[in-house]
Amino acid sequence: MCGIVGYTGHKNAYPIIIGGLERLEYRGYDSAGIALLNGDLNVYKKKGKVDDLKKSLTHAKLDGNTGIGHTRWATHGEPNDINAHPHYSNNKDLVIVHNGIIENYNAIKQDLINKGYQFESQTDTEVLVSFIEDIQKNTQASLEESVRFALQKVIGAYAIVVMSKNSPQTLIAARKGSPLVIGVGKDEGEYFIASDATPIIEYTNEVIYLDDLEIAVIRDGNLTIKNLDSTIKTPYIHTLEMSLEAIEKGGYPYFMLKEIFEQPKSVTNSLRGRVNADEGTLTLGGLSEYMNRLLTADRIIILGCGTSWHAGLVAEYLFEEYARIPVEVEYASEFRYRNPIIKENDVIIAISQSGETADTLAAIELAKSKGAKIFGVCNVVGASIPRMTDAGVYIHAGPEIGVASTKAFTGQLSVLTMMALMIAHKKGIIAESEFREILTELELIPQKIQKALEVSDKIEKIASKFKDATNFLYLGRGNNFPVALEGALKLKEISYIHAEGYPAAEMKHGPIALIDKEMPVVFIAPQDGIYEKIVSNIQEVKARAGKVIAIVTEGEKNIKEMADYTIEIPATHQMLTPLLSVIPLQLLSYYIAIMRGCDVDKPRNLAKSVTVE
Ligand code: G6P
Repeated sequence: MCGIVGYTGHKNAYPIIIGGLERLEYRGYDSAGIALLNGDLNVYKKKGKVDDLKKSLTHAKLDGNTGIGHTRWATHGEPNDINAHPHYSNNKDLVIVHNGIIENYNAIKQDLINKGYQFESQTDTEVLVSFIEDIQKNTQASLEESVRFALQKVIGAYAIVVMSKNSPQTLIAARKGSPLVIGVGKDEGEYFIASDATPIIEYTNEVIYLDDLEIAVIRDGNLTIKNLDSTIKTPYIHTLEMSLEAIEKGGYPYFMLKEIFEQPKSVTNSLRGRVNADEGTLTLGGLSEYMNRLLTADRIIILGCGTSWHAGLVAEYLFEEYARIPVEVEYASEFRYRNPIIKENDVIIAISQSGETADTLAAIELAKSKGAKIFGVCNVVGASIPRMTDAGVYIHAGPEIGVASTKAFTGQLSVLTMMALMIAHKKGIIAESEFREILTELELIPQKIQKALEVSDKIEKIASKFKDATNFLYLGRGNNFPVALEGALKLKEISYIHAEGYPAAEMKHGPIALIDKEMPVVFIAPQDGIYEKIVSNIQEVKARAGKVIAIVTEGEKNIKEMADYTIEIPATHQMLTPLLSVIPLQLLSYYIAIMRGCDVDKPRNLAKSVTVE
């Protein structure tokens, strides 16, 4: 949510910053802006996407070796040129970019107004930068100290970068609750700052993750990291393995389509080195230290938001069925604001693609404070959640840039399936033959996903029939009920068609009233233990003239006779069907959105990484 870029070194800052903003645009695209320091402190900003900003700058003077940039997801103040970042302080000596929310900005603003300060925007950010200016004026403190004093007074979350007209070649960055990564450039004295590593990877793979309540001061080519209380910290430099190719579209028109088609590879990467069907072994190294804790858990509480929450719901079926551990799945945003009962033998599994979702972070903190052990299932290596959990497993899906999550979902399912299976095996409650059978099937999943992708042309044709629908219903049962929720979410997010997911049998308690000849109903109906039940549900919809699109197992005949359209997925073990059944739903939503002229990578009002609550 909001992307930040900063650069200081010997190169021209503008192309680095604008390129970085393009890479971070998935974090917000309400407006974009840059500030360049070249004796003067020039700010250029524009409502809309980074491309709109770029177009507006064709005649601008864009030199300077130090600069900052921002792409915004609006919280305080509507998206317009004035509310866009960077923001000047009152006397225009300072500029700031900010990701987060300063909760006590109104009180600070009032004090500053009483002192004669004026504000152009409606943002909390402009208040913060003028607050820093005010501290500097009153205390004659250095820029760094003034930032530090200001941050000691603010309540809320922030990742900020500040520049001053009077401090050439200087960037001050700080974070609390919102991410910041510092890239150590290959050239002497060159540093990059960004909300994540994607703008940096093109220049260097050496990065430092700033921790909460730390300030980074880059001055004349030297970096110092301190705590908010001014103690100097020794930075740890991580070497990233991410490739530039992984963050580019690679010939696809949209990241989302690339990421859907990447799933045979990304799921292979999730399974790599973990599943060995020949030897009948399953290893999740990240959990070994706390394995006993998992094996003896009385209850598992799964936390997540959005698609990650849906993956948690699938996991509930798997953990209960195979590991025989009771599971509760909670929206992190709800969990954090109640007084949850956490007992000694409970464990928490936090699922997050980005590892930065503010509500999930806060829920983890709450559970930690109650003494729980926390396990993470994340994609972005080195993000906040993996750094604050006791143990965890990366899904290794590679960077996911399309706002609608696709390959992260199948990566999460792969890891959660392995976790459930491993617990069941270690507890000795799964027959060795079934364990081995599932391992063999797991190894085959990437090629079966590939097969599911091969019918994309058929799905595109089906999409053309329903592109003008105003409502959709998605129905599934058992571990495919959460897949119905995920299918509905995908459609809502990117095509703006209203869609609901329901357990198929629950349809009779309400949604059936919606069914008429205009209503498309997507059934997820693989041939599993509850196949017969879902066949009856399909009949109930057909009896009311609803239009049925059914996801069925290859070779299935019964449903084919009833449904208006069927999409086949390969047969697999019942435990693994969500890994296949979600693929046609991702494609269906993608094609419908494209046919409706929607920008699927940047759906309106959404952001990929929700770093504000
Ligand atoms: C946003 C994204 C979703 C994602 C959710 C949770 O809403 O648009 O795709 O599922 O956040 O994000 P996380 O990074 O924690 O999985």
